[in-house]
Amino acid sequence: MENTQNNEKTEKKKIVFSAIQPSGTITLGNYLGALKNWVIMQEEFNCIFALADLHTITVRQEPAAFRKNVAEAYASLLACGIDPEKSLFFIQSHVTTHAQLAWLLNCYTQFGELSRMTQFKDKSAKHADNVNAGLFTYPSLMAADILLYQADMVPVGADQKQHLELTRNIAERFNGLYGNTFKVPEPYIPKNGARVMSLQDPTKKMSKSDENVNGFITLMDNPDVIMKKFKRAVTDSEARVAYGEGKDGINNLMSIYSTITGKTFEEIENEFDGKGYGDFKTAVGEAVVEELRPVRERFERYISDKAYMKECYTKSAEIAQKFSQRTLDKAMRKVGFVLK
Ligand code: TRP
Repeated sequence: MENTQNNEKTEKKKIVFSAIQPSGTITLGNYLGALKNWVIMQEEFNCIFALADLHTITVRQEPAAFRKNVAEAYASLLACGIDPEKSLFFIQSHVTTHAQLAWLLNCYTQFGELSRMTQFKDKSAKHADNVNAGLFTYPSLMAADILLYQADMVPVGADQKQHLELTRNIAERFNGLYGNTFKVPEPYIPKNGARVMSLQDPTKKMSKSDENVNGFITLMDNPDVIMKKFKRAVTDSEARVAYGEGKDGINNLMSIYSTITGKTFEEIENEFDGKGYGDFKTAVGEAVVEELRPVRERFERYISDKAYMKECYTKSAEIAQKFSQRTLDKAMRKVGFVLK
């Protein structure tokens, strides 16, 4: 009896899809803003995670570095707690349906819609010498990623919300033309997701492409480096640990500290009442060091066990291929393709 109930519960679990680009080191921002929540969501949902390597080549990559980045990203996510026993965790290019459905969806996505994507505008300004068609159709590949798995929910940060909105529009348009084919996904805003800002310019999001390496923390930074970066973090001249307007630096440090320790802002203000920024920065640095220590240790283990990683991503890709093929076939049949 209990077993039946459990089975029923498993079947009804909502499907979550998300992906991250393996385009370099993973930052504390990725970790606190996204990955830590992915790990938590594994307990409640049927999670499908991917390394979006097809998306990565919309910006030119050096082949050896690209290959290394994919292996390191896979090891990093395992180290963060993505568990291939609980979730699917594969490399996008290993599952052939993604590129296939992306082509189909390209034909149901308007030039005008893609032209309005702010990420396309930003990236084409930044890479003016390589405004390729893949950069333009990046969002329809993202739509394919999501729609292939009939995902109920997609955890995304603010920068990807417009792409998710477009995904919903594409799905609704297709469903409108051919009848129900794709689940229209909802954005998932995690309860305790932090938007981590640069330690050097706290009005900007923490990014690994920041020219100033003191602006970001990577998962692989050693404790000395982490402490140094926090000690150099830009704050303000008020010398009071309190959340407030015009205190972007302190707000950012408080939000990092709060996400890691689970303390509320009020508790943090009380804890550092009468103390200076030096003490606070040390405490935040130490909390981050301790949070990342096991992650770095596990990373070292996974990255030196390529066979284990291969086993994980191969198994997940096989399941993902079968699952997503059903959606691809369904969509193709509706369009009128002759299936083999
Ligand atoms: N474009 C996303 C990013 O850079 C990564 C991504 C690819 C993604 N496909 C996705 C995120 C599907 C959510 C769902 O962050």
